[in-house]
Amino acid sequence: LDPKSILAAFGLEAENPGTYAAKSGWLEDKNGRFLESYNPATGELLGKVRVTTEAEYETVIREAKELFREWRKIPAPQRGEAVRLMGEALRERKDELGSLVSLEMGKIKQEGDGEVQEMIDIADFAVGQSRMLYGMTTHSERPDHRLFEQWHPLGLVGVITAFNFPVAVWSWNTFISAVCGNTNVWKGSPKTPLISVAVQKLCNEVLEKNGFPAIFTLFTDDTNELAKRFVEDERVNLLSFTGSSEVAKKVAPTVAGRLGRYLIEAGGNNAIIVDETANLDMAIPAIAFGAVGTAGQRCTSTRRVIAHESIVGELTKKLVGAYKTVRIGNPLDADTLMGPLADETAVKNYEAAIETIKGEKDAEILCGGKRIDGDGHFVEPTIVKARNDIAIVQAETFAPILYIMSYKTLDEAIEMQNDVPQGLSSAIFTDKLQNAERYLSCEGSDCGISNVNIGTSGAEIGGAFGGEKDTGGGRESGSDAWKQYMRRQTNTVNYGSDLPLAQGIKFDL
Ligand code: UN1
Repeated sequence: LDPKSILAAFGLEAENPGTYAAKSGWLEDKNGRFLESYNPATGELLGKVRVTTEAEYETVIREAKELFREWRKIPAPQRGEAVRLMGEALRERKDELGSLVSLEMGKIKQEGDGEVQEMIDIADFAVGQSRMLYGMTTHSERPDHRLFEQWHPLGLVGVITAFNFPVAVWSWNTFISAVCGNTNVWKGSPKTPLISVAVQKLCNEVLEKNGFPAIFTLFTDDTNELAKRFVEDERVNLLSFTGSSEVAKKVAPTVAGRLGRYLIEAGGNNAIIVDETANLDMAIPAIAFGAVGTAGQRCTSTRRVIAHESIVGELTKKLVGAYKTVRIGNPLDADTLMGPLADETAVKNYEAAIETIKGEKDAEILCGGKRIDGDGHFVEPTIVKARNDIAIVQAETFAPILYIMSYKTLDEAIEMQNDVPQGLSSAIFTDKLQNAERYLSCEGSDCGISNVNIGTSGAEIGGAFGGEKDTGGGRESGSDAWKQYMRRQTNTVNYGSDLPLAQGIKFDL
């Protein structure tokens, strides 16, 4: 698992193009700048990707729009076949792509592979969905009339993804969108540009070989100039954005301002409630995986533990003990449980949060709290005893910092859990039916995802994924998320020879 062979598996070189258009293929304006990508575990340069120019962006959008006119006419199950073949290729190359995700993004190999597994799973889901783009039929109030609805392809779908899930979130959107009949333009994260190029190459191989057009296309941007243009672009019918709540709050009104559609998946501040009946042998590994997994850089990462006062002492002691056993290091080593943060900015954010915590009289660092000296962007996973209303606890710090607090009554715990700006994922550990059901009731968790006896992260693709409040309200992936990638048309057909008007109106000429 050396970087050279991982990069070579996808034909990645020292310098790579970063723009792919539906008809013109790879575009490479030799005057264009390069974006550099570094290994977050060592600081070494992995390769460069050419940044898209304004003219190239125009070509990408124009050609995706043109291709839509053809793609929409391909029957949905045949569109599903294109995605099925993508899933097959991903099965074959899971190990290679998982390794590349681990190398460039820094998550451990297991999690890199897991992300590719999410791609495979959503491909399967989308293939099935391609035969189930159901529209309903209802009963007309008029005689000899048929009233029904159909779902038509929407157009051009724009997808902006974040560094932390550089491949899975793209596939949640584009695989569903492709079977729905849309063409897709992707802007990946500038922190993981080589991964985006590798995925684009994989798409090209699969689609070209099987006679499908380039329904998945790409541009690269690290200044946000083109990203801004993308969000404003009226030709983009649906803009799916994954990223911080702060940026999401600019993206949503911009797309809304042109009456476009948006799908937002932004930050989380996910809590696990551990009640007095909870099985700690289950709760502790769930909390540790949720908080330490992906070095705390999932939007579903566990950031807060709200524990009943009768067990908070024991739970804290055991968690601190468990943290001591977390093996930190090269994410590609099979033994490692926690890799580096994405880059130096992420380390600085972690350190700033730790400084803020140190200045709080109601917060106390129980373990961790330091950057790890040496190459790469490694930090110690950290547990902090805190109160929910402290500003830093209310914010999403994209790092392995876990806040622990205690409660007396379940209502109080639920209130604390919900009393943050974000509303993505949540969980309760309990062996008491009443507590579990109350937690899932309308008076319980206010999050888009709410679990019992499993943690906050690692959701399956079959459910709708997303959350409320500052998380942005969007739902991606499974369930009926596909409807957002299509336009609904209501149809009434009169098969009689009279013209009765609805609402009983008489219009006698
Ligand atoms: C994200 O962090 O943006 O539920 C996505 C999870 C993963 C997806 C996370 N299936 O943790």
